[in-house]
Amino acid sequence: MTNLKPWPYPRWVAHRGAGKLAPENTLSAFRLGALHGYRFFECDAKLSKDGVLFLMHDATLDRTTNASGVGGELTMGEIAQLDAGSWHSRAYAGEALPTLEALARWCLSNHLDLNVEIKPTPGQELETGRACGALMNRIWPQDITQPLFTSFKPEALQGAREVAPHIPRGLLVDKFADGTGDADLKIATDLDCHAMVLNHALWDEALVAKVHGAGLRCSSYTVNDAWAAQRLIDLGTDGIITDRVDLFSPAQTGK
Ligand code: G3P
Ligand code: CA
Repeated sequence: MTNLKPWPYPRWVAHRGAGKLAPENTLSAFRLGALHGYRFFECDAKLSKDGVLFLMHDATLDRTTNASGVGGELTMGEIAQLDAGSWHSRAYAGEALPTLEALARWCLSNHLDLNVEIKPTPGQELETGRACGALMNRIWPQDITQPLFTSFKPEALQGAREVAPHIPRGLLVDKFADGTGDADLKIATDLDCHAMVLNHALWDEALVAKVHGAGLRCSSYTVNDAWAAQRLIDLGTDGIITDRVDLFSPAQTGK
């Protein structure tokens, strides 16, 4: 069998910090995930108007802040003023959207691993990938844990690869381009990815064998029930991204 790429990460990944238990992609959410014992965190990063990487899932501010419009059209100074907590609950009123740098520094100081999903504003794929690579090059020492870059956008992974080729990459796929996964696996291998990170329902025994056979790791999002998690563990996959930091102990490994 082809040699599998190294996979230094724990199996369990806390999605957007602590799933839905705290306002996603805020430092309070990551702190809460850590309190549940998680040490590998997924976040969504995009560029502000003035070129600062900040955390936000949606293209628009409407769902998770007290403002509306496209997040990438504001400067970081404007983004930092937003209330990204009240939508979740009163306890988090006034919670700010952090920069990716603030989260990465918090992870470093707590010896935690970080999966940066590069979530570009449309049209900024390459630029956002390059910015993520440059930031991690600048602040993340290479002799401790490595971050992981993921994206649904191959151009974003290409941008990160140009600038920070040593940081592992994973291709996110929600639906196969060709129905079989072969076309997406080719994109991932062409980008020298470490992993395919799929909508968990896409994995089956044959696909796990094919992806492992190509030397890549098999990871899944977003897994929120015990049956689905056990299926992925039994299939021999390598990573599980979950909102349910309250349900799954990161120490559990399955049967
Ligand atoms: O990174 C895995 C997962 O977060 C991808 O989907 O839409 O939750 O960013 P989404
Ligand atoms: Ca994400």
